[in-house]
Amino acid sequence: MHRSEGLAARGFLVFALGALVCGALFGVIGSWQHVIPGVVDAVPFVKSRPLHVSLVVAWIFMAAIGGIYHYLPQIAGVPLHAPRLVWVHLVLFMLTGLAVITSYFMGRFGGREYWEFPPVLGIPIVIGWLLLLYNFFATVRGRQGPWPAYLWMWATGLVFFLFTYLEAHLWLIQRTGDNAVRDLTVQWKAYGALTGSWNMLVYGTSMVVMERISGNARPARSRAAFLLYALGFTNLLFGWAHHIYPVPSATWLRMLAYGISMTEWIVLARIIHQWRATMDAAHSGPRSMSHRFLFASEVWVLLNLALALLISIPAINLFTHGTHITVAHAMGSTIGINTTILFASVCFIANGHATRTMRIGFALFNGALALFWLSLIGAGAVKGWYTVMTDLPFQTIMQQLRPFLIGFAVSGFGVFAGLMVLTGLALRRLNAREEKVVVSPERSKGSAEVRISPVSLDEGPM
Ligand code: HEM
Repeated sequence: MHRSEGLAARGFLVFALGALVCGALFGVIGSWQHVIPGVVDAVPFVKSRPLHVSLVVAWIFMAAIGGIYHYLPQIAGVPLHAPRLVWVHLVLFMLTGLAVITSYFMGRFGGREYWEFPPVLGIPIVIGWLLLLYNFFATVRGRQGPWPAYLWMWATGLVFFLFTYLEAHLWLIQRTGDNAVRDLTVQWKAYGALTGSWNMLVYGTSMVVMERISGNARPARSRAAFLLYALGFTNLLFGWAHHIYPVPSATWLRMLAYGISMTEWIVLARIIHQWRATMDAAHSGPRSMSHRFLFASEVWVLLNLALALLISIPAINLFTHGTHITVAHAMGSTIGINTTILFASVCFIANGHATRTMRIGFALFNGALALFWLSLIGAGAVKGWYTVMTDLPFQTIMQQLRPFLIGFAVSGFGVFAGLMVLTGLALRRLNAREEKVVVSPERSKGSAEVRISPVSLDEGPM
């Protein structure tokens, strides 16, 4: 890999980790604002929430993009088509990020959920994305042989993010914004596809990491891998149907959307599980951090699946809809599934062996996340019960939630501390790492199998 493009790809990862830590910090502030109103006057909840959500979404995208720029030349077997554009993209993303944070601090909003910043700041995001699209397709064009599932996932996720992002801004055109039902439908259809498109990038990344660790190219070309791709794509198109209830969509469509999103998780868990079983059979001894994070993502997929199954039962949904259980679902999947997979990738790129400190950070992060998730579910269940079954005023109901909200805020601090440890170590590794990638001359027929020889600056046994 060209040294400069490798550096730019790592630049994306460094800024992704920075966005994660800052985003999580605003999350901690927001959680304590639930317990002690006005605890941080300088950043009220109306600012801490969008700061939190935009920064953690930026983490997901930047970590996935950094991974794509990093792995792509190895997968395609050719250098990136335009390495300089990676730098332009990185600088554009950083400057836009700074402008977004500044606009939030100044109280200038104007956008909608996830993108609450003034919509004009979306222009550099779109330009940067076009550069990524151009570089991606111009590079993979040089690849020989059929595409493995992860390339299809990345290609689809990249194209659909752009489409969805533009669609999510259609409300700026008067005709869409002047009819409430049409406005809501278009908006939530776009958001359903938005999460679907970042899931494609993240699931594709998980397959690449598994392939790189095991050196086995077959799973990413298997039927299960393409089934995951097909389900992910269908979920991207129809997932919105179970995200928004006020939109008068047909029941069968909603049920289909539920079914597809859950089957998608089952297939993902199965692929990771099979990969782990093969790895365990072939290797003994301590597991790498990437291996541990993939294991964690498998567990979190199953936990979130159980929760999703429960809240999709209409009699239960009646109580849970719009409560903290929805937040548990959102954060359970963005932290438990997306973040753990992306950490597996970051650790792989950073050559993150499982040092003792890393293992402590990992245990703290996952343990605290379990309490965090359970506290949100507890808060949501109590709120749903009192709201539906009693006539108690809102204030009294919120008092019943207090123990759970305290649990949420305390464990949220634990999640933050775990992330700080993991991020700090990953950043040190990323900065220290020098790598040399060798594209194997004996590429197997029809597949672009590559060997990577990382020259690690090992810091001793982990
Ligand atoms: C470090 C610990 C964290 C804390 C204490 C925390 C806290 C919060 C709080 C207070 C909210 C607002 C909930 C509300 O509107 O009532 C929120 C929303 C959200 N957080 Fe976090 N968060 C943390 C980490 C993360 C991370 C790492 C991610 C993703 C990578 C994440 C993703 C989200 C998302 C997607 C929402 C929007 C949920 C929704 O609207 O349903 N959070 N978080």
